[in-house]
Amino acid sequence: MNKITKILIGSNNKGKFKEIADLLPKGIKKNSPTQFSLKSPEETGNSFIENSQIKANYFSEKTNMVTISDDSGLEVNCLNGKPGILSARWAEEYGSFDNAMEIILKEVEKANRNEKIKDYGAKFISCLTLKWPKGEKISEIGEIEGTITTKKGKNGFGYDPIFIPKGFNITFAEMNYKEKLLIDHRFIAYKKLEKKIKNYF
Ligand code: IMP
Repeated sequence: MNKITKILIGSNNKGKFKEIADLLPKGIKKNSPTQFSLKSPEETGNSFIENSQIKANYFSEKTNMVTISDDSGLEVNCLNGKPGILSARWAEEYGSFDNAMEIILKEVEKANRNEKIKDYGAKFISCLTLKWPKGEKISEIGEIEGTITTKKGKNGFGYDPIFIPKGFNITFAEMNYKEKLLIDHRFIAYKKLEKKIKNYF
């Protein structure tokens, strides 16, 4: 079995890159797509797993390196799971994450306006894929449930300010970096993946 001594973290999202880098073993060399001047491929899949594998295949083929990729997003119950796999694209379409969060908050209020039992439930989902160039790939999904709230906190990235994970009373953006890192959807997916790949490290 060839040990993994270096890895490409197939993400151009700084927040995700840092979290994945900090979950991986310290001893291995972590590389980024920017070192190879690579943009992310188009996400043409219909699920987190498809898009995660599209990225892993693309980056491992381009760099010939073992690659770990993430596709993730926020699913809001009362919005029928939106923005879901379109989480990054909503931010692009509406001009910023701040704007996309405002839209989500408005839509959630609208969906709940005439409901006796209000539903603010949501979950973050991450699918991590580890891919060997010209070889096998392994994907694992992690989910964390919680509720949508008005924007609070300055830490983290993306939709962190509007999400309170179950069992807490602060948003991801109010947590310190380590606290979020060790409970979130990527961490849960990574722990599942780790069980299958730990002999490679
Ligand atoms: P993609 O996986 O590149 O399609 O992008 C996923 C998008 O989901 C990111 O750009 C973020 O907006 C959002 N997202 C994924 N994980 C997190 C997280 O841990 N916190 C906040 N937003 C996240």
